[in-house]
Amino acid sequence: MTILQGKKILLGVSGGIAAYKTPELVRRLKDQGADVRVVVTQSAKEFVSPLSLQAVSGNDVSESLLDRQAELAMGHIELAKWADFILVAPATANTIAKITHGIADDLLTTVCLASAAPIAIAPAMNQQMWHAKATQENLIVLRNRQYLIFGPGSGDQACGDVGLGRMLDVPELIDACVEQFQDAELSAAGQHWVITAGPTREPIDPVRYISNHSSGKMGYALAQAARRIGAKVTIISGPVNLATPLGCDRIDVESALEMHRAAIAQAPQADVFIACAAVADYRIGQVADQKIKKSQDELTLTLVKNPDIVADVAKLEDKPFVVGFAAETQDVEAYAKGKLLKKNLDMIAANDVAKQGQGFNSDQNALHVFSTTEKFDIALASKAQVAQQLVELIIKQNSK
Ligand code: C5P
Repeated sequence: MTILQGKKILLGVSGGIAAYKTPELVRRLKDQGADVRVVVTQSAKEFVSPLSLQAVSGNDVSESLLDRQAELAMGHIELAKWADFILVAPATANTIAKITHGIADDLLTTVCLASAAPIAIAPAMNQQMWHAKATQENLIVLRNRQYLIFGPGSGDQACGDVGLGRMLDVPELIDACVEQFQDAELSAAGQHWVITAGPTREPIDPVRYISNHSSGKMGYALAQAARRIGAKVTIISGPVNLATPLGCDRIDVESALEMHRAAIAQAPQADVFIACAAVADYRIGQVADQKIKKSQDELTLTLVKNPDIVADVAKLEDKPFVVGFAAETQDVEAYAKGKLLKKNLDMIAANDVAKQGQGFNSDQNALHVFSTTEKFDIALASKAQVAQQLVELIIKQNSK
């Protein structure tokens, strides 16, 4: 279960340029398992099409207060009661002013007035409008009424100005929503989590290497999920094509030896160590100084065993809670449990890489998780959802 799983989130979109980001926002909320309905203002439709929002949310988009048909389907009071949480993003200066003063002249402001659900506002406007006394005083009133204000961010604005007033980026908005539903006991605040991710590259000569197909997506999803519940997160990353999740530290490495060095340096200060990287089991014994020329028909490379990073972390005197991964094609349970014991892990997450559409390079995964005494199954879902469930499991097992 992710924190947003099954939560009914009403997204109110008002008419700012940042509205173009809302289809992505809806998709990411849905990734977290939320049920999303969207209300747009008339001017929002100039920036984003209701049809796009309908397609990504899987629900009708509501736009009019005075539409009999729409009121028959889900009227404004029903919508207001339906929501567990209302997020107004982007919230223009005009919409903020209307909400502050109880004006209910369109569907969005009416729903805000009629709902008992917590309401978050993600302001998006020109920096001058943001700093205007009227806007700032409205926000003071809203804060006093327990409205949540997400952002705004600072930077280049669509109008050419630079300053405060940009709507937060989608991942920041998701983090802020998750935080609102955060269960206090599922917090990792004050903890340091170290996560290895991605493949390693074992050099053959200055231009060639041996590697594997790991995309790093699972490790990065875990980093993001751990960060969302308040952990300080360090990713020790092999070469991947992924952006660093917001708020995480990242140490880039290439070879298994480099990853080992970074892990042994970081792990003693860590509370949780997750080995998600697909570390090459062997490296080239003698890396050539110069590019190897093709002369003979056959070339023999001698491989030597790499250190087992997760096993070495688990041997540390002051070891963190250590979680390993096992990618198996058969006898998943037996092999995974064998590794759990052999490497002295606290937990192991096994995935069946023989199954289509999960594991390596995929956006989805399913896991069988074993501690020394228990077994848990995490069903096939997006890596973001699977990561959140695994992180929650780790928190619970670690606090036993
Ligand atoms: O033994 P095997 O490679 O199947 O074990 C997989 C687990 O061990 C993963 O958690 C992986 O990150 C970790 N591992 C490691 N160092 C290695 C090999 C694997 O940390 N050299």
